[in-house]
Amino acid sequence: ENRVSVGLLGFGTVGSGVAAIVQQHQQDLLHKLGAEVSIDKVLVKDLTKDRDTGLSPDVFTTELADIVNDPSIDIIVEVMGGIEEAKQAIEQALQAGKQVVTANKDVMAQYGHELLQLADAQKQDLFYEASVAGGIPIIRTLEDGLASDRISNLMGIVNGTTNFILTKMKQENMSYEDALAQATALGFAEADPTADVGGLDAARKMVILSSLAYSTEVSLDDVVVRGMDEIQEGDVELAARFGYTVKMVGASQTDEDGIEVVSEPVFLPDAHPLASVNNEFNAVYIRGAAVGETMLYGPGAGSLPTATSVVADVIAACRNILLEVKGKRQHAPQHARPIKPANK
Ligand code: NAP
Ligand code: HSE
Repeated sequence: ENRVSVGLLGFGTVGSGVAAIVQQHQQDLLHKLGAEVSIDKVLVKDLTKDRDTGLSPDVFTTELADIVNDPSIDIIVEVMGGIEEAKQAIEQALQAGKQVVTANKDVMAQYGHELLQLADAQKQDLFYEASVAGGIPIIRTLEDGLASDRISNLMGIVNGTTNFILTKMKQENMSYEDALAQATALGFAEADPTADVGGLDAARKMVILSSLAYSTEVSLDDVVVRGMDEIQEGDVELAARFGYTVKMVGASQTDEDGIEVVSEPVFLPDAHPLASVNNEFNAVYIRGAAVGETMLYGPGAGSLPTATSVVADVIAACRNILLEVKGKRQHAPQHARPIKPANK
């Protein structure tokens, strides 16, 4: 009987969701793949933590080498977060001949091009659907669904935490601090929420989306980043009185002069489609020369929605293994495009 073995790096909000989906949807996975998917090793920092896992305690380890050097592991799923350590873990996994899945936008925004090249060189694949907009299949949409079009604009709410905070401030008059505490308790915020509220998390996601949309290498230095600290006391209430909604928005556009990418708070008229995207939900509006306007909407953060995208990537990796087509995935060829300097 076919069996695909997964090593999970991290068992927090996202990792526990991945394990839950793999266990609860085992029958569906078997029908879809004709193979059993099994989580056989899990990397954590603290082995003494009380966890409700549904997995044997023996699978947990604090040593990355136990997982990447295990020849029986086929797929490594990186959901531990951080940058340098996570990057090294992904590199080691690819070099050890594993298919790799990550939800890590910090790593993909900073090292995505390098890591995708390494994956190609190793004849492996690196999947990162969950790195942007949680449960929305936006990466596949840009890579595959809209591959035939020439995209000129992207605009989206791509950070669940700040959208949750702004929704609670507007609809329930909640304080910024209480709303952030709730977003953290619900697992939407990063371990350190500075990047969420400072606009950097959305900027990283716009780097990933813009690089795909325009088939080029956008870097974080190219992005104008403004955070929630630019929203003044009373702005949310005042905007509401005049028919506007304050939103943290990521946007990029391209014209003959180059590409421009921003992550910033804006006033949106209430009739704007992004103004009614609330709580941790995300939406990405895309304009293409041929398709016209299209918009994707869905949960942007949280355990099971994010894990849905991670496990979709695991399924894609399983198919590559079972069909023996690892490393055949084509990344859009990169071409240099002028990028307008960030006006910081
Ligand atoms: P989290 O709840 O903080 O969980 C992190 C997990 O990784 C924990 O199990 C932790 O171990 C383990 N870990 C961290 N550093 C480690 C290290 N150096 N060695 C071994 N284990 C380590 O984080 P999360 O919210 O699940 O996020 C994980 C990743 O997914 C991040 O890249 C995040 O940006 C991304 N992401 C998150 C969401 C979301 O909604 N939360 C959505 C999309 C993408 P312990 O349990 O022992 O502490
Ligand atoms: N902290 C992120 C957010 C998680 O709030 O959107 C999803 O990437």
